[in-house]
Amino acid sequence: MNSLTKDAQKAAERVGLHSDQITINGGKPLRGRIEVRGAKNLATKAMVAALLAEGPSVLKNVPDISDVNVVTGMLEAYGVSVTSASDGELRLDPSNVLKAQFHEIDALAGSSRIPILFCGPLLHRLGEALIPDLGGCRIGDRPIDFHLDALRAFGAVVDKSYEGIRLTAPNGLHGADIELPYPSVGATEQVLLTAVMASGTTELRNAAIEPEIMDLIAILQKMGAIITVEPNRVIFIEGVDRLDGYTHTALFDRNEAASWAAAALATEGDIFVGGAQQQELMTFLNIFRKVGGAFDIHEDGIRFFHPGTPLKPVVVETDVHPGFMTDWQQPLIVALTKAVGRSVVHETVYENRFGFTDALIEMGANIVVHQDGLESVTRRVPRRRLEQAAVIIGPTPLHGADIEIPDLRGGFSHLIAALTAEGRSTVSNVGIISRGYEHFIDKLRILGADFVYEG
Ligand code: EPU
Repeated sequence: MNSLTKDAQKAAERVGLHSDQITINGGKPLRGRIEVRGAKNLATKAMVAALLAEGPSVLKNVPDISDVNVVTGMLEAYGVSVTSASDGELRLDPSNVLKAQFHEIDALAGSSRIPILFCGPLLHRLGEALIPDLGGCRIGDRPIDFHLDALRAFGAVVDKSYEGIRLTAPNGLHGADIELPYPSVGATEQVLLTAVMASGTTELRNAAIEPEIMDLIAILQKMGAIITVEPNRVIFIEGVDRLDGYTHTALFDRNEAASWAAAALATEGDIFVGGAQQQELMTFLNIFRKVGGAFDIHEDGIRFFHPGTPLKPVVVETDVHPGFMTDWQQPLIVALTKAVGRSVVHETVYENRFGFTDALIEMGANIVVHQDGLESVTRRVPRRRLEQAAVIIGPTPLHGADIEIPDLRGGFSHLIAALTAEGRSTVSNVGIISRGYEHFIDKLRILGADFVYEG
């Protein structure tokens, strides 16, 4: 998010995002143990689900990140009481849901894409939803057409106004037959959160089946929903009249775990990521091993380390689950600058997720981004529309530079690059990282990084 506008800056500050910077003396391996907590991409959705209940819900293992603050602010604007009984535990009480003031949600929404997921629950609770323009990371055009088409299929009427999007459901919401053009994570969540209380049955085809979606389904089942996940990305949802609150422990953040794993590899370090679990990281672990990284699986986490032998190049393509997640490619690319030979990363999920490589090139990396993708004999699937490819030739030692963080995952990659680089780097706009990485400054300290943080 280069040069935030004044409004976006204000909104960012409200939820605890600051335009701070960090000066790093790189070239030191990261070593030690850190913990990851609940997944950003589950916790925020679980909080929205609480809006559907008659009574309070309790969500445990909630990370202390600004995206959680954004959703807390939005829920509070709708009259949901959000309290924290103990560290990492939120109690969400939707007993007094009311219409929010538009300016309140608008001020918060600038920094997140979660507001779109409020549509179904708000239509059920209030008969109306007003959704401001959406934020989130700038990683290409991020349309919401699948969301709106699905909501229309449930019977919602969508009006676009100068403020944002207004939805109503004059005849209530009914079950629908929906086939997503692409297994979109957000659109699948939209359908789930809407269908659970729509009258009749919904059939969703080509659904996303990410672990965070399965955890959301588990939460909805605890609340009283009837959801059947069939083979081949088909989900059936039988609408019910009421849902109760839930108590749930959020599944761990596999994206954060993969990011620290990449940091261990790139800095030739050794990091034990407490809370990481093998099952949700299998695809990542295969690639990590192919690159030459080592790991030990433990009951309470995974140790990721550089075994001291040269890293090897890989060809990777990002995909929907169970493929290699798009969020993992950015941190991994920093480690690939150290591999001996030519690596290729095909990005097939977002149309612009290689912007962060400009800074790596400035720091000495040999990376060429092919905007229209690349054919490759080593791939599993043919090139996709909107695809890009990055070719990384290594090993290239990185040197310090002054860089500005573009987005969440790209930002973490910049941090890793600066930690790897010889000499001093100043990384600005580093506050964006707290959108999805809990206490990352403390964790860098624990891991022995040499830096000065100006918050
Ligand atoms: N898309 C459309 N129309 C839509 C919705 C999506 O064309 O209505 C396209 C998008 O433009 C994109 C592709 O479909 O090219 C995938 O989008 P998807 O809906 O699957 O992603 P999302 O729900 O917006 C979530 C995560 C992302 C993660 C992706 C893919 C959250 C809040 N965000 O985004 O996480 O990369 O799924 O797994 O859950 C992050 O954590 O940094 C992050 C960006």
